[in-house]
Amino acid sequence: MRYLNYLMTLAAALILTQGTITAQQKTEPHRPQLHFTPKKGWMNDPNGMVFFNGKYHLFFQHNPNATVWGPMHWGHATTTDLVHWNEQPIALYPDSLGTIFSGSAVIDVNNTAGFGKNAMVAIYTNHSHEGEKAGTDKFQNQSIAYSLDEGKSWTKYKGNPVLRNPGIRDFRDPKVSWYAPGKKWIMTLATLDHITFYSSPDLKSWKEESRFGKTLGAHGGVWECPDLVSFNDNGKPVWVLIVNLNPGGPNGGSATQYFTGSFNGNAFTPYDTTTKWLDYGPDEYAGITWSNTGNRKLFLGWMSNWQYANVVPTKNWRSAMTLPRELGIKKINGRYMVVSTLAKEVASVTRPLKTHSSVQVNGHYEVVRASGDADGLFRLDLGELPLTDFSIAFTNTKDEEVTVGFDKTANQFYIDRTRSGATDFEKGFAKRHVAPRLATGNSINLTLAGDAASLELFADNGVTVMTSIFFPSEPLSGITIKAPGSLQIKKLKYSTLIPNPQKR
Ligand code: FRU
Repeated sequence: MRYLNYLMTLAAALILTQGTITAQQKTEPHRPQLHFTPKKGWMNDPNGMVFFNGKYHLFFQHNPNATVWGPMHWGHATTTDLVHWNEQPIALYPDSLGTIFSGSAVIDVNNTAGFGKNAMVAIYTNHSHEGEKAGTDKFQNQSIAYSLDEGKSWTKYKGNPVLRNPGIRDFRDPKVSWYAPGKKWIMTLATLDHITFYSSPDLKSWKEESRFGKTLGAHGGVWECPDLVSFNDNGKPVWVLIVNLNPGGPNGGSATQYFTGSFNGNAFTPYDTTTKWLDYGPDEYAGITWSNTGNRKLFLGWMSNWQYANVVPTKNWRSAMTLPRELGIKKINGRYMVVSTLAKEVASVTRPLKTHSSVQVNGHYEVVRASGDADGLFRLDLGELPLTDFSIAFTNTKDEEVTVGFDKTANQFYIDRTRSGATDFEKGFAKRHVAPRLATGNSINLTLAGDAASLELFADNGVTVMTSIFFPSEPLSGITIKAPGSLQIKKLKYSTLIPNPQKR
């Protein structure tokens, strides 16, 4: 009996939480239900992502007092499973050296800095707005702060800044990691149009090691938010250097490029000089990986674009993060590429509703009919699609639509948000964005995750990825697959995603 009571209370609590989400979603149009969003105010880059004592920490560029970019703080959120987020009090406030721009966090296992064993140390850019106004180029400097209580309270180091600007206007976004073979910290820093690597024994004194990239990769804008990640290919270390770029992305505005190569503790040497993009869509930016996660490389990006981030039509908050992704490497045509897939933890909130081992599409096939009450929170997995033209229309009852498709002649995937609802807040928003098919196999597989105001497309097991945001007047809950002729899909799985019961 007591057990029954318990079950009933649990069920009531579940209904209540979900009710809250729905009510809130109705009063707050476009609020994602699974992706992390701040309760209020502005958010941009993910910062200081570090795993410690069973918790994933996410700090983020945050202006708590307005829904536009402004004086930057580090907001803070934690999760134990990468899908249920708990927003925490603000971690870092602006200080006499400036506001708190992007950076990273590490766990100082060996107490190299002397702040304490296992201190959580944040390494960030202090941006002095006064310095900027005064016309000097030295207004961005790197500073550190530490926490001995899992990121709840922070002490800024008295000797800040720890790395002074030599006179480079854009000198920011330190990503620090431990280089075990050399027993030293490596800082990967964005320095205008290239990366500068620094090393340190103690996180406090930094020495320049090398520079990379002035004449390589995409240079349509400023290099920002880098990351240096090591992978292992059957015992061979393969390094990936992530470099965010604004503007100059493949579909306009900001985007994330990367290089593959080797790193010897001093310099990064690329394997090839082709420009590669981690996400071809318009709305993944400033993406980097969590530190202290061992061999798993977990990635999160900011789901927006500087081209319009400040004017998207949301009210109490602006911007969401992507869903957590796991990065890997794969050799295609003799070249290493990064592949991104949804982190396996997303399975814990995935409830399959329809699974088919073979679907014959003659002209069109309705996976789900649009309904004004649905929440537009879903995942669609399509396997073994032939290399032929097809599209998937995500629709609502207001005749708004986002279309995802494959164009065989161009060998491209695309996401078209031309008729996706509100688009007039920025003239370049209503567009069809394209990405090359990079995989070489003769069938395609797709995973699509939708959440109120976004679609994330992982094609060919994550070789081509696209993220797109949009603002329909009601969620896009209808899904129809279309093909000019007939199309056979070997596997189709449609699932609902369980909302994140974040308290707001
Ligand atoms: C990238 C970026 C960073 C900077 C931060 C400021 O989106 O411009 O280079 O540190 O945002 O908020």
